[in-house]
Amino acid sequence: MESTEQQRTPLDFLGELRRTHSCGQLRAADAGQRVLVMGWVHRRRDLGGVVFIHLRDRDGVTQIVFHEDVAADVHAKAETLRPEYVMGVEGVVAKRSPETINATIATGEVEVVAEKVWIFNESRVPPFPLDEFTEIAEDTRLKYRYVDLRRPQMQRNIILRSRVAFAVREYLYSQGFHEIETPFMTKSTPEGARDFLVPSRMSPGMFYALPQSPQIFKQLLMVSGFEKYFQIVRCFRDEDLRADRQYEFTQIDMEMSFPQPERVFEAVEGMLSRVFETAGSPIPTPFPRLTYAQAMRSYGSDKPDLRIPAFHCVEDLFTGAGLATDGLPLVAIHIPNTGAPSRKERDELKAYGQERGLRVFDDAKRLDRDYPEQMSKVRERTGAGENDLLLLAGWPGEPQGHRPEETVLQACGNLRLEAARKYADKHKLFEGKSFQWLWVVDFPMFEWDEEEKRWNAAHHPFTSVHDEDLDALVNNPARCRAKSYDVVLNGTEIGSGSIRIHRRDIQAKVFSALGLSDEEARMKFGFLLDALEYGAPPHGGIALGLDRLVMILAGEKSIREVIPFPKTARGTDLMCDAPSPPSPKALRDLGIQVKPASK
Ligand code: AMO
Repeated sequence: MESTEQQRTPLDFLGELRRTHSCGQLRAADAGQRVLVMGWVHRRRDLGGVVFIHLRDRDGVTQIVFHEDVAADVHAKAETLRPEYVMGVEGVVAKRSPETINATIATGEVEVVAEKVWIFNESRVPPFPLDEFTEIAEDTRLKYRYVDLRRPQMQRNIILRSRVAFAVREYLYSQGFHEIETPFMTKSTPEGARDFLVPSRMSPGMFYALPQSPQIFKQLLMVSGFEKYFQIVRCFRDEDLRADRQYEFTQIDMEMSFPQPERVFEAVEGMLSRVFETAGSPIPTPFPRLTYAQAMRSYGSDKPDLRIPAFHCVEDLFTGAGLATDGLPLVAIHIPNTGAPSRKERDELKAYGQERGLRVFDDAKRLDRDYPEQMSKVRERTGAGENDLLLLAGWPGEPQGHRPEETVLQACGNLRLEAARKYADKHKLFEGKSFQWLWVVDFPMFEWDEEEKRWNAAHHPFTSVHDEDLDALVNNPARCRAKSYDVVLNGTEIGSGSIRIHRRDIQAKVFSALGLSDEEARMKFGFLLDALEYGAPPHGGIALGLDRLVMILAGEKSIREVIPFPKTARGTDLMCDAPSPPSPKALRDLGIQVKPASK
């Protein structure tokens, strides 16, 4: 049935036809002009003697009108048009009468009276309407992504992405950076996820790893004397997918020679200000800065969302009161203008905190009664008024973890976010184009891996330690601060970087603190260690997630909305049907045998 429908309309060739205008361009001043436009049939209304088409291209929509009494053959052809047919029209621009002006489209004051029409292709009935209003299951959208991408919102997002990438290139070139490519078929890079491996046909049993980032290569480019490098580059990480994570994603990757962190901040702030200006939402620079320790004490997070007020540590006001374990933080969380919380809201927040090991004091009135003096100081410190939500949260049990204070602060940070989320819709906390940037600096150098019972690099093992913490590398790794920094937007980590180790002797010390033997270090990163011995300059840099950046700029909740062909949350491509089994010949050539998957 489909094939008969397919062949119903005789199709025209493009030949030498050339557009004179786009579908978003025509205005009242163009009335009387002869034009040729091309695009897709967006909507069609057939009123018998008159057919109206909304013709769409990437620039907009123009109304075309086919009058039977102006050109009968053209009108007859227009009657065969269906949504998403691809066509061209020649005609004369006419002003619409005042009562038919369509103020919702830029070309709404005019229409094109068709005199010639070409149908270049037909379309099957689209799997979903291409408007802004219909809710469509994501799996259907991804299966027919080429159709989904025609929707105005997706067109806007993908074009925004392209403009952001252009602004980045333009700015960085203007600052003396060069874009330099690094290999995709390479060796494992240590960014903490699993690698995607590519089997080698020429060296049976051997594999390349796709880069989790160009980290080592960009450092080598500094050793090679390029001084300012950047790359808008695909990275590959086999990790659980989330709204802000894909297997393959794009980094704006940068590296500089002879920089202090401030030089990196200046380059990034300049670049982001250009990007946001391009997108029509200028942002103030420089961004505020917090040390990791300050961010934890004020927000319980290393990526604080500054759209919500900080929390306050108030354990000093309640010593001996028995509200929480002595020596650990007691935190006052304050969300403004919530009105009196309902019993249900309080219970839910309490349960949320308890699940994370906290004891939550949700009854502010009772606290005011039982601890009047202390609570008036809490209110002074937090600025909490009668109409605000005010909670206290502390740790009732034994201290936990290698940095127990952080365990408590982190749990309180999550409770703060949960409390804000609860009231977000009611009070439009996250609405509007508010872009709250900040730098978080001086992260701890190491994180304790409870499973493996050893220290891991908090950033990556090529990150410099603070000069004054160098001695602690061996004696007290928990205390070591790194010369590392994150750039954070509205509670999402957008970028991460550091000043690198450029001396072979210090790199060896860090590997040893990480429990990496000389032999292992040589096997994994021998070439980098060698390079450090050939005049490596002090260097440092950063990488920003382009997908995350565009997601927030576009006001989207998932990076899949700003990636043309993303994977589903299950890691599949529903359109191409990937992953898929390789052919037996491909496996034979690679010398690979596949065992049946174990259950
Ligand atoms: P990091 O691992 O923090 O640092 O990555 C930098 C930024 O890349 C983005 N990102 C991702 N985006 C989407 N999906 C993913 N799976 C994903 N993983 C990371 C984030 C993150 O902030 N080599 C270092 C950078 C450096 O030190 O210069 C690195 O890759 O926005």
